[in-house]
Amino acid sequence: MRRFDTVLKLERATTRIVVGTGLLGEVGARTAALDLDRRALVITDETVGELYGADVLGGLDEAGFAHGLLTLPAGDRSKSLASAERAFEMLASMRLGRDGVVIGLGGGMVTDLAGFVGATWLRGVATVLCPTTLEADVDAAIGGKTAVNLPFGKNLVGAFHHPRLVLADTACLGSLGDRDLSAGLAESVKHAAITPGDFLAWHEANADAILARDDDVLVELVRRNMEIKGEVVARDERETTGARAMLNYGHTIGHALESAGTFSLRHGECVSIGMVAAGWIACELGMLDGEEAERIERLLRRFNLPVRLPESETFSANAGDFRSSAARFDSVRDYLSRDKKVVGGVVRFVLLNGLGQPVLRDDVGEALIRKAIERIG
Ligand SMILES: NC(=O)c1ccc[n+]([C@@H]2O[C@H](COP(=O)([O-])OP(=O)(O)OC[C@H]3O[C@@H](n4cnc5c(N)ncnc54)[C@H](O)[C@@H]3O)[C@@H](O)[C@H]2O)c1
Ligand SMILES: [Zn+2]
Repeated sequence: MRRFDTVLKLERATTRIVVGTGLLGEVGARTAALDLDRRALVITDETVGELYGADVLGGLDEAGFAHGLLTLPAGDRSKSLASAERAFEMLASMRLGRDGVVIGLGGGMVTDLAGFVGATWLRGVATVLCPTTLEADVDAAIGGKTAVNLPFGKNLVGAFHHPRLVLADTACLGSLGDRDLSAGLAESVKHAAITPGDFLAWHEANADAILARDDDVLVELVRRNMEIKGEVVARDERETTGARAMLNYGHTIGHALESAGTFSLRHGECVSIGMVAAGWIACELGMLDGEEAERIERLLRRFNLPVRLPESETFSANAGDFRSSAARFDSVRDYLSRDKKVVGGVVRFVLLNGLGQPVLRDDVGEALIRKAIERIG
């Protein structure tokens, strides 16, 4: 059984990261080893709680923890201030003090919310994250970004707060739906595209084993992603130096599609289409050659990810003929300018100046953006 155990050292925090199979049974003992007060609130969603809640709670019992359990409906709607308020009420009634622990067991919805609760309860208590989706393993659980959604926008309220411990039990990926596995793979392809080295080739060589959910290969996949994300985060803990912006590859158009569309697409699926659009823009600007862009697109297809907008996707903004490319462009453009990454009205793209060489560009013209959106339409 392969295990990886490492420490991510940051300026303001240290996160112990363990990746392997069968880790959920050890959450109690490993949390106890943090040497905190033995009080913990576990936050999960209904699907994950049903599958894995008992493993975690049993371990906490054995380790002598007094614990509470907050189980929320599955889905991003639960990543809300109302859910956080429910958690705060439970923490108050448990009298969980500064030495207590908030444990998040679930996908990115849960890890973002549990992180937010941990960041804000008594101005910050320790959090332990147990990611159960590939999206959370490779992205959400690492890096200290916590958030809740507001009715008028996603991730608008949050704080940087690094978990003390991340336990990624890759056995959880066995019960994940195929579309959720693929959505997480989009972020993994993103990491491979923006990093020099052999990670892209590794995906190509191991694609069958990844899709077959081979234990060892999944452990390796998660470990490599966490290393890449951890390394970027260490260079830019609070998103001030620009290093972290590279993680937004595929996300400029991806986020706009996610906001403008009718939510039939997963985040990772939007990022997949967004990477194809960004690849095409980079080719047009002479930064990437066609074969390199094609290589990424081929890998996305191999992972059953969309590389064009599905026919069925309609757009919420701009009532009218959503199928016309002009309406699509207006709708997506509208969301592009509302993006948090927009600085002074300029849309910023991460583009590849060759594979593994991401650069930030804020000079992509309107006409090129329009053509890119047409291309993926
Ligand atoms: N903080 C960050 O840096 C960061 C990065 C990326 C994404 N995110 C956030 O993560 C969220 C998306 O994450 P997600 O895709 O994991 O969504 P999610 O947490 O909603 O999980 C997707 C679905 O899978 C189910 N599920 C979870 N684990 C399962 C398992 N092991 N077996 C079967 N079903 C399981 C969930 O119940 C849910 O229905 C968004 O809120 C996004 O904003 C945050
Ligand atoms: Zn993403």
